[in-house]
Amino acid sequence: MSATAAPAARAPSAAFFSETVLDVRHWTDRLFSFRCTRDPAFRFAAGQFAMIGLMVDGKPLLRAYSMGSAPWQEELEFLSIKVPDGPLTSRLQNIVPGDQVLIGRKPVGTLLLDNLRPGRTLWLFCTGTGLAPFLSLMREPEAYDRFERVVIQHTVRDVAELAFRDMIEGLPEHEVLGELVAGKLVYLPSVTRQPFVRQGRAPALIESNRLTDELGLPALSPAEDRVMLCGSEAFNADMKTLLEGRGFTEGSNHAPGEYVLEKAFVEK
Ligand code: A2P
Repeated sequence: MSATAAPAARAPSAAFFSETVLDVRHWTDRLFSFRCTRDPAFRFAAGQFAMIGLMVDGKPLLRAYSMGSAPWQEELEFLSIKVPDGPLTSRLQNIVPGDQVLIGRKPVGTLLLDNLRPGRTLWLFCTGTGLAPFLSLMREPEAYDRFERVVIQHTVRDVAELAFRDMIEGLPEHEVLGELVAGKLVYLPSVTRQPFVRQGRAPALIESNRLTDELGLPALSPAEDRVMLCGSEAFNADMKTLLEGRGFTEGSNHAPGEYVLEKAFVEK
């Protein structure tokens, strides 16, 4: 390959990759997602997050974002809220294909399959943009090797906020993952402020056994269930109380447990 045909210089700083925006999807006036190029040197595990942002006045402005794409995918995908006066999201929501975004070089986080003890059903409970790390995990083949069933439970205010609903519902027909996912991935979205097939917050749906009844399973328990949580602080706190009340112990990067949690980060 001649020097002129080489890929455009990425010129990353020591701490960031500079990547090119490929497409942007605006789900609602509060929610958008985007895809960008991925440097092959950027390696991460499903469920992790990194610092993402923009150069503003010559300085990097960054927030924690979970990778929504799976580690095997060539491009990166992120899900974000839009806050009108948020320092980063008020700008980031205006990106268009061709723009540059900064990707921190060090992915981290606790929503890792390795942080859970073996079990039968993996429950991924999230609210709002807390869906992002689970978009990655539900496309991670390892999740289906380790668990008999992977349940994604996303709660939002309005139906329009059920981002990636088509993608999730289409996974059983996916050309690469379909065979692995079919019959194992269950999508149980819930809406709290509009009529929908499933209504209400996750803790109430668990307490009433609505979700486990739908699947013909016994009530959620540490015997067979493993749980990942990603949502607002109030959601995480309520779910933690509920799970610990049932005997679940929290896992970490040092010791696996029956559940793990991470805050859905971006608030500004
Ligand atoms: P609700 O409509 O009853 O407040 P938000 O858009 O504010 O981040 O909320 C996303 C979803 O999380 C909403 O459906 C909201 O329900 C739900 N939610 C908010 N707080 C909690 C909580 N403490 N436990 C469970 N779900 C919650």
